[in-house]
Amino acid sequence: PLYKQMFGLSDLEERIRKRYGLKQVIVVPGDSDSLPHTKRELGLAGCAVLRKYMEKDDVVAITGGTTLAQVANQLTTQTPLKGNWFVPARGGLGESLDYQANTLASTMAKRTGAQYRLLHVPDHLGEEAYTTLMQEPNVREIVEVIRSARIVVHGIGDAMVMARRRRVDGSFIEALKAEGAHAEAFGYYFDRNGAVVHRMPTIGLRLEDIMATEVVIAIAGGSSKAEAIAAIMRFGRDDVLVTDEGAALGIVAQL
Ligand code: F6P
Repeated sequence: PLYKQMFGLSDLEERIRKRYGLKQVIVVPGDSDSLPHTKRELGLAGCAVLRKYMEKDDVVAITGGTTLAQVANQLTTQTPLKGNWFVPARGGLGESLDYQANTLASTMAKRTGAQYRLLHVPDHLGEEAYTTLMQEPNVREIVEVIRSARIVVHGIGDAMVMARRRRVDGSFIEALKAEGAHAEAFGYYFDRNGAVVHRMPTIGLRLEDIMATEVVIAIAGGSSKAEAIAAIMRFGRDDVLVTDEGAALGIVAQL
């Protein structure tokens, strides 16, 4: 195809890296919207990045989704990561079991000889339930571990796709549309410019915890996510982006 002649993958990586001031961008060939193989490659590239940034005794918080599942199910290490912890970044966000952050955190830990802790609560809670749960010593303890994460690894989704996948009600979808929600990441919805348009009290990682995390790694691909990924890059908290050619071309087209 023509674009291959116009920019190599490393040109795409460098253009996106510079534009958003990222430490590192990795673009795998292909478009995961149409090729399951590309999504697996995205997962493998995510594994390599995670290994590169992980240090002794780190706590790694991860979100759910099908892309992060490709990371979890392929993660390996040469030596067991005994002192490391994998934890879910948020409570249940309405994902099916295979793609829940809890499931992925335990898979990653088991595959690498690390430790894990789970958070067995729904993510979206009313004020009262939130206050009550936070008084539970077990919940408090795991929440403290989650909020102390040095590394966050997260997926990115299109706002409408994610709202529907979570089966939120019609009025919420209308509100999100009215607010110009374009992208979703770590339970928050963002507009095209990367401003947060919707937040809810959460048991897991809050925006302020994400701001304080040392290494934030986004893993998302597919041409249909180009706008959503660009919005999250404009939010500007990521250090590393792992994506595919389909999404990267869409992102560069918006620069
Ligand atoms: O629900 C968890 C989550 O990481 C969302 O924050 C994100 O939008 C979505 O999953 C990405 O899912 P997928 O990789 O399946 O597109």
